[in-house]
Amino acid sequence: MRDSKQLPRVAFLISGRGSNMMAIIKKVKEGKLKIKPAIVFSDNPGADGLKSAEKAGIPVSTFTPSDFPTREDYEKALVNTLKKNGTEWVVAAGYMRLLKKPVIEAFPGKILNIHPSLLPSFAGLNAQQQTIDAGVKITGCTVHFVDMGMDTGPIVMQTAVPVEETDTVESLSRKILHAEHDTYWRAIKKAVSGYQVRGRTVVFK
Ligand code: GAR
Repeated sequence: MRDSKQLPRVAFLISGRGSNMMAIIKKVKEGKLKIKPAIVFSDNPGADGLKSAEKAGIPVSTFTPSDFPTREDYEKALVNTLKKNGTEWVVAAGYMRLLKKPVIEAFPGKILNIHPSLLPSFAGLNAQQQTIDAGVKITGCTVHFVDMGMDTGPIVMQTAVPVEETDTVESLSRKILHAEHDTYWRAIKKAVSGYQVRGRTVVFK
């Protein structure tokens, strides 16, 4: 058994509410997920999730790309911040920017994201609106590894959510979010325990 000093150190990237991050931290506090939340970073200084993280006793950091001459400089500063806090894994939870080369290369195979659809359907922004527009009967959420594409990395875990005829973007978003909260921590647990990617398929140890 790893003692708490040896638990995988996980950084959270958020842009807003941070409810996924807090659902994961709850599982950590309950002893169901053996990770160490190392730092919470937001590209939005006003993100509500930063306050929740502080209340939970987790170090926080925030700056925005506009604080830097280039997008690459921003990402390099982000890598420095994460490394300074001993980050081994990166969990994007409602982080509304594409991660670029500096971050992706600093944490190879150790960056996860959650997306509110069953990928590869409805990648990118406004996934719930795309879902309703397409008239599909089943949607859900996907946890995937992050690669250089937009929501294109190998899939770790998915949960299905039925779409009712009466659903609006708001009602569907609520149902998907509920599924996300019970999916992300399970996906992290599996991923940090070890995996291989065969073709496009993530195979757990
Ligand atoms: C979640 O629904 C997440 O899937 C989505 O933003 C929401 C964040 O909620 N992420 C994306 O759309 C990324 N493309 P939260 O801040 O309460 O966790």
